[in-house]
Amino acid sequence: MKAVLCKALGPARNLVLEEVESPVPKKNEILLEVHAAGVNFPDTLIIEGKYQFQPPLPFSPGGEAAGIVRAVGEKVSTLKVGDRVMALTGWGSFAEEVAVPAYNAIPIPAQMDFSSAAAFGMTYGTSMHALQQRGQLKAGETLLVLGASGGVGLAAVEIGKAMGARVIAAASSAEKLAVAKAAGADELINYSEHSLKDEIKRLTGGNGADVIYDPVGGDLFDQAVRGIAWNGRLLVVGFASGRIPELPVNLALLKGAAVLGVFWGAFAQRQPADNAANFQQLFTWYAEGKLKPLVSQSFELAQAGAAIDVLGQRKAVGKLVVTMR
Ligand SMILES: NC(=O)c1ccc[n+]([C@@H]2O[C@H](COP(=O)([O-])OP(=O)(O)OC[C@H]3O[C@@H](n4cnc5c(N)ncnc54)[C@H](OP(=O)(O)O)[C@@H]3O)[C@@H](O)[C@H]2O)c1
Repeated sequence: MKAVLCKALGPARNLVLEEVESPVPKKNEILLEVHAAGVNFPDTLIIEGKYQFQPPLPFSPGGEAAGIVRAVGEKVSTLKVGDRVMALTGWGSFAEEVAVPAYNAIPIPAQMDFSSAAAFGMTYGTSMHALQQRGQLKAGETLLVLGASGGVGLAAVEIGKAMGARVIAAASSAEKLAVAKAAGADELINYSEHSLKDEIKRLTGGNGADVIYDPVGGDLFDQAVRGIAWNGRLLVVGFASGRIPELPVNLALLKGAAVLGVFWGAFAQRQPADNAANFQQLFTWYAEGKLKPLVSQSFELAQAGAAIDVLGQRKAVGKLVVTMR
């Protein structure tokens, strides 16, 4: 089978496409024939050796995939050969086949194509967990989403609307904000042109946002935290800006606010029943047309490095997908 390989840690242009042995699934694993793989921010980090998990070299990047089960290990009872599934792999998805533990794969709804499925699990799974279990977002509350046209950000906009919140989308350009608007955002903030803190105050009549969803960190976190409402919840999702911010905790005291960490991968592993319930709700909203995963660009397998570059250079909107077949 063909696989894109990271043979030495470094930039995406160093990735190579090679012929390698097909993986053999272990007792608890499935062998997935990959039809499409989603590109996510961790792919930019893992090839540089900057992510929290580091597979031994050489490895294929690609944290999630969608495709068809071609073989199952002897202890797998939940899936069978021929099933269409989406899977969280961590790495290994930028390849024609990948072996993955069965508990990390779930069946794809009949009406969802492989490309949408490859763009779904990580982003919607993360944002659902963030807004449901961590933020406890309620209908009528105000949700501020930073990086609102990105993978997890755009999913948070759609889920926020599905949960009945008033959604303020914040992003760095008019083009990116148009994407968030099309996904249902009620208000828009261009933080390249306006002060994020001032705009939050203006749009909330001085009250601030009840829930702030932050996958960006850095300077935007510093501003956003000053625009949180009384009893507000600040969701720490990621640090796409490259800087892990620090919080003067008097701000939490003054607003009676909570700072909540979001780690969807660990949640899915530790609370599988809650994660399954989240996906049931997500698939219901998908069937109702409330969630529309946006695949803005598709790349062939040989171009997976180019896809990682587009994301890392802050040029992606919605999701980028690598298609194998
Ligand atoms: N906690 C979890 O469980 C979890 C799960 C998945 C992902 N994440 C994290 O969430 C973050 C976003 O992931 P994603 O896959 O949604 O990425 P993405 O599609 O690239 O979106 C990231 C957004 O961040 C903004 N951004 C600001 N400064 C940036 C910079 N220097 N470089 C790139 N983007 C920048 C961009 O929007 P603007 O240009 O509009 O600012 C971009 O749309 C990452 O840090 C990722 O590790 C966390």
